[in-house]
Amino acid sequence: MLVLETVEAFRAARQPVGVLGLVPTMGFLHAGHLALVEQARAENQTVAVSVFVNPTQFGPNEDLARYPRDLPRDLQMLEAAGTDLVFVPSVEQVYPADFSTSVDVSGVTGVLEGAVRPGHFRGVATVVCKLFNIVDAERGYFGQKDVQQTVVIRRMARDLNLRTKVVVVPTVREPDGLALSSRNTYLNPEQRAAAPVLFRALEAARGRWEAGEQSAAVLREVINGVLARESLARVDYVSVADPETLVELDHAAQGAIISLAVRIGKTRLIDNLILPPGE
Ligand code: PAJ
Repeated sequence: MLVLETVEAFRAARQPVGVLGLVPTMGFLHAGHLALVEQARAENQTVAVSVFVNPTQFGPNEDLARYPRDLPRDLQMLEAAGTDLVFVPSVEQVYPADFSTSVDVSGVTGVLEGAVRPGHFRGVATVVCKLFNIVDAERGYFGQKDVQQTVVIRRMARDLNLRTKVVVVPTVREPDGLALSSRNTYLNPEQRAAAPVLFRALEAARGRWEAGEQSAAVLREVINGVLARESLARVDYVSVADPETLVELDHAAQGAIISLAVRIGKTRLIDNLILPPGE
């Protein structure tokens, strides 16, 4: 495994390596990230992982400073997972002092996470566009956990004719259903015990959909009902949206994205499901 810190070094190392899959991350890796690496391993000759805590996607009141980091541990995990190339650039490497270009995807970035986190998806789209250009991968791997991110990146890749194909990997969960996230480490034991309510709420909606319920309003109510019974949970949003446009739906349809954001204490958790084929 080669660890490269500059764009120049990465490009030099990348030269002879054939079909390449890229897994962009912000480090502090867990089994969710490793599922992306594993799928990239299965579908490409070479796997590259980037580890970069991207400052431009954090808002002024967000957790950039306290975002967890442990590069030595990340590198061990990546080596064990069969990674070939790791790109670990500095902030200056990615954003030189006079950096002045950004990628703005409109529409799908204005709702849900984008409504609560202005500028977040500009930071994500800009850094992923740069990584796609630097790495020149055949495929880029993203988790369904951050479903709006996958919608935004797909749209960017299509609109800008980027050659990298966007691949979405199912969410990896704890045995009790909580989606793995580096932010879970912020939860105290009581909050951790409350956190699987997101998954239970989604499962309740899935059950109703599979039983024939097509009203998006009813599905939102089902979710809100489950969340209301957990006293530590504060709902930010519950959405049933079109998978391409993220516009809220009246009638749920196969492929629609049900997503939610819930605060437990100071920690904001998100989760989602994509409606499977109905009856
Ligand atoms: P990060 O939060 O480190 O996540 C890296 C990738 O891992 C993302 O595609 C995310 O959706 C995926 N992931 C996280 N938890 C997962 C889980 N439980 N199951 C499956 N996949 C999971 O997302 C980012 O970094 C950044 O925004 C990035 C794309 C790297 C741009 O800076």
